[in-house]
Amino acid sequence: MKFFVDTAEIDEIADLTATGMVDGVTTNPSLIMKSGRNFLEVVKEICDIVPGPVSAEVTALKADEMIAEGRKLAEIAENITVKVPLTWDGLKACKTLSDEGKMVNVTLCFSANQALLAAKAGATFISPFIGRLDDINIDGLDLIAEIRQIYDNYHFSTEILAASIRSANHISECAKIGADVATMPPSVLRKLADHVLTDKGIDSFVADWAKTGQKII
Ligand code: E4P
Repeated sequence: MKFFVDTAEIDEIADLTATGMVDGVTTNPSLIMKSGRNFLEVVKEICDIVPGPVSAEVTALKADEMIAEGRKLAEIAENITVKVPLTWDGLKACKTLSDEGKMVNVTLCFSANQALLAAKAGATFISPFIGRLDDINIDGLDLIAEIRQIYDNYHFSTEILAASIRSANHISECAKIGADVATMPPSVLRKLADHVLTDKGIDSFVADWAKTGQKII
């Protein structure tokens, strides 16, 4: 399973990339706004740090304008993935940009039918938003399972990129279902290593080691 980080914070991306866990990055207009940075500049910096796919989202709503924006974004670096919304215009833009050999991430997916359309439009990634479904009392993980089944039935190569991740539990559940990728906030990625028994074990080993009076170096 690939891990993407869902942020435009350069320091976080650099720090987590050093752990070997970051296979890619996703951004969206809200994350760019939070970063307070220039969109094109920050995306370029991210592409220089992370060799894997870096999603940069178009902001136009009409297909021809999305395609123009997508082409401009794709010029930033080889690893740019153009992110388009799951609308008919977005699907049209996805088809054109995919046919040109660009990576496309179709975002804001909330149903299995939407995911089916994205795969047929040649999307590289489909982004079902788990957390936002959970927020309205619909189990987001069920959607991941439905898409997995549909993509497997028809051998679609579009990768399921589980998005809007809110907890460490979402990650293990997505891994069990078979999502290809999960994009998560840095705070969730950091939590994956946490366990109370790990902390307790370290405390007792440190205490016992001190009693030996020995040193390794
Ligand atoms: C994914 O590409 C989106 O940027 C993201 O996962 C949205 O998450 P949110 O629902 O927490 O805003």
